[in-house]
Amino acid sequence: MKLHNVYFSPKGTTKLCADCIADSLDLERSDYDWLTAKEPEKTEIPSEDVLLFSMPIYGGYIPKLCAERTAVLKGSRTPAIITAVYGNRHYDNALIQMKELLEKQGFVVIAAGAFLAEHSIFPAVAAGRPDESDKAAMENFAQTCRGLLAKREQWENREIELPGNPDYDASAFKGVPFKPDGDETCTGCGACVSVCPRGAISRENPRVTDETLCISCGACIRICPEKARDYHGEAYQMAGKGFAEKCAAYRNPETFYII
Ligand SMILES: Cc1cc2nc3c(=O)[nH]c(=O)nc-3n(C[C@H](O)[C@H](O)[C@H](O)COP(=O)(O)O)c2cc1C
Ligand code: SF4
Ligand code: SF4
Repeated sequence: MKLHNVYFSPKGTTKLCADCIADSLDLERSDYDWLTAKEPEKTEIPSEDVLLFSMPIYGGYIPKLCAERTAVLKGSRTPAIITAVYGNRHYDNALIQMKELLEKQGFVVIAAGAFLAEHSIFPAVAAGRPDESDKAAMENFAQTCRGLLAKREQWENREIELPGNPDYDASAFKGVPFKPDGDETCTGCGACVSVCPRGAISRENPRVTDETLCISCGACIRICPEKARDYHGEAYQMAGKGFAEKCAAYRNPETFYII
């Protein structure tokens, strides 16, 4: 049995969670990084293998470009483990959205986890997460998944129940108004231009962001060696304060299984 580890992680926390779960699953493994693979190739995953599908949550859904990219994955009643990584507000309908998208592609979702991570736009929210207790929860999750994978006959004809509104509308999320741009310390190295999954940064002047394309993912902020890029402005500062107050309570990871 081989593990196919698919993730999109502009700020790195989703990859951290995916790695923690994948390491604990301890299977032969292929990684598919959907941030660096600008046009992911069609991937057929046989029924004896397993898909680990880990996504950051944007507005209660998975990023639109990732939802569209699920079309490249093809299963044959292949087991899938799904992971929603979110910044301490909520994951809303993301788990049922992932289930629906992957079922359409021939997968059977056998387990789902919602795990906490530092908020990628407002890093004061859920700062330092995933923490040691989150990592222990992910390791336990992986151990339970190992047990499920060994007992295919017990879940073959079952369906997992997940929280969320089945009448969800993923197109309702129109993005956030905060878009990073560069400051005068930019050296023009171009690293942000290459990493941007939306082609939103001008190669001629990387300080400039096309706000109509940018999805606020933060990959450019993370990669910049000069720390020249960030979200700016009074509206951003104000929103950050209110948001941190609203999302101050410590949320715990949640896990769901097919049996
Ligand atoms: C555009 C955008 C929208 C977000 N919406 C939510 C949300 O609805 N709920 C939430 O709890 N966190 C939200 N977050 C925070 C991310 O889900 C969270 O920080 C995640 O860990 C980012 O993953 P990464 O580090 O792999 O990029 C949002 C982040 C971005 C960039
Ligand atoms: S990564 Fe930073 S320094 Fe390099 S071009 Fe982008 S903003 Fe400028
Ligand atoms: S410009 Fe926007 S879309 Fe591109 S990497 Fe930066 S935050 Fe992400």
